[in-house]
Amino acid sequence: MPIPKAELHLHIEGTLEPELAFALAARNGVQLPYADTEELRKAYLFEDLQSFLDLYYGLMAVLRTEADFEKLADAYLARAAAQGVRHAEIFFDPQAHIARGVGMGTVVEGLGRALDRSAERHGISTRLIMCFLRDQSAESAMATLEAAKPYLHRITGVGLDSAEVGHPPAKFAAVYEAAGALGLRKVAHAGEEGPAAYVSEALDVLGVERIDHGLRCMEDPDLVERLVRERVPLTLCPLSNVRLRAVDILEEHPLPRMMAAGLLCTLNSDDPAYFGGYVGDTFHAVHEALGIDPEGLRELARNSFEAAFLDGSAADEAL
Ligand code: ADE
Ligand code: ZN
Repeated sequence: MPIPKAELHLHIEGTLEPELAFALAARNGVQLPYADTEELRKAYLFEDLQSFLDLYYGLMAVLRTEADFEKLADAYLARAAAQGVRHAEIFFDPQAHIARGVGMGTVVEGLGRALDRSAERHGISTRLIMCFLRDQSAESAMATLEAAKPYLHRITGVGLDSAEVGHPPAKFAAVYEAAGALGLRKVAHAGEEGPAAYVSEALDVLGVERIDHGLRCMEDPDLVERLVRERVPLTLCPLSNVRLRAVDILEEHPLPRMMAAGLLCTLNSDDPAYFGGYVGDTFHAVHEALGIDPEGLRELARNSFEAAFLDGSAADEAL
């Protein structure tokens, strides 16, 4: 039996497996620049975050209808359930779809169809977190928040993702303030490739409640002390860090040092179709490569529920 866990850092578009990408391409008449799934998989050798993002945004071309988004989410939830996930907070990137002529409603309602059935079908409660692309303008992020207003009953929070360096959190101060005023929860990617200062800025300027990645906080002892003191959760993704070369090899990942420092660490899969494993695989990998023992793995799983946006309602208590 896998340990029950919550997954808090998961881009739904990053769960698009090559087989499903080709099936959706055929259904929607989209020509992919790869002969087959094997050739596509061979392209998954990334230099850095940007080289991954180029492929990730390109492959989204196959996602066109509500049924496509429903299928994508249902396939993820089935895999996650098999790896012990009981609660999933799922990111999506509306700007990447709207730019291709696929509207906010298609994305949110399609994902929503799968999420509505998730508790019953997969035993997983869910939340949706809408991410702004930080390499696009602050005005575009604000327009995206505006476009989401008819769907806010389905959206729990906002996040910030895409190319980090050169796009500091403060660029999005106004849209995070507006999101907060709408009652949305706040998270942001920070300290993945960008400096530790972006982690502090996300907390101070955006008022985020969790940091996605946060790896580079380890370069600033005062920041580590603050994160420990304020019990700020970090949604770490070790397999992603290896594939995107934030760390050279898994054996050198700072997770053990981060846990020893008292940081509230959680384990997540980020974009599992691209990075070689879902969250259960990630638990297994850190046990093997980093020697995180069973008690450490249980601590990481407990942390994931502490850090989740669960409100203690009867439905949540049933988890
Ligand atoms: N979008 C999808 N995965 C991402 C990651 N690891 N960092 C930033 N943006 C992303
Ligand atoms: Zn991410």
